[in-house]
Amino acid sequence: MTRIAIIGGTGLTALSGLEITGHDPLGSNFGEPSGPLTRGKLSGREILFLPRHGYEHTIPPHKVNYRANISVLKNAGAEYIIAVNAVGGITEAMQAGVIAIPDQIIDYTWSREHTFFDGGEHGVEHIDFTEPYCEQLRTSLVAAGRGAGIDVLDYGTYAAMQGPRLETPAEINRLDRDGCHIVGMTGMPEASLARELGLCYASVSVVANMAAGRGEGEITMQEIEHNLQSGMARVRRLLESVIPTL
Ligand code: HPA
Repeated sequence: MTRIAIIGGTGLTALSGLEITGHDPLGSNFGEPSGPLTRGKLSGREILFLPRHGYEHTIPPHKVNYRANISVLKNAGAEYIIAVNAVGGITEAMQAGVIAIPDQIIDYTWSREHTFFDGGEHGVEHIDFTEPYCEQLRTSLVAAGRGAGIDVLDYGTYAAMQGPRLETPAEINRLDRDGCHIVGMTGMPEASLARELGLCYASVSVVANMAAGRGEGEITMQEIEHNLQSGMARVRRLLESVIPTL
């Protein structure tokens, strides 16, 4: 079975270099995932690929069916999930183009279907989330990046915001006071759902822009897309380097 899955974010709806072997149009008990799972080979290993926002980038962050996505990956045999997330940089170190492997999360999202544990016949269950990302996978990502000469920051508190609008500078100041380093819209509930199903999940967060009020003027989609293009080239190399080590 294929053990490694990649969830692509904005800027990574297709994985170039992936030798595609098939598409599985899987459904789940939780509705439709973002698209059919792509099966393929990367660095000689079979992997699964799913673009979070759909193959045509049509599903906004608050409409992603996170439960269906995680559920179909689990059912397809995934044990590791590498999530790629575009983020805004809040702190000085998180400049556009930086790749961070975050180690903490604060969840500010609301009204998303955020758990598989809805009580009833299964009773009440609580996952431990002291380390919200899988430490083994984080360590492998950092080591693979450094081995391949790709700069990666091995920390980051990820602020998961509801979106789809970007933040106000006042909101970013609050996230900064809360101890957040980066801000995105898709990190939760994906990470906790993966934990609920016992999957080893980590994020490769690519800084697409300085967060609101931290850079010059307004944040434009052109700026985001431009920075993601060069960032994603390094993300692809990082993925190719880490896969053989898992
Ligand atoms: N805020 C939230 N999500 C984002 C940003 C941002 O500035 N950039 C890319 N995703």
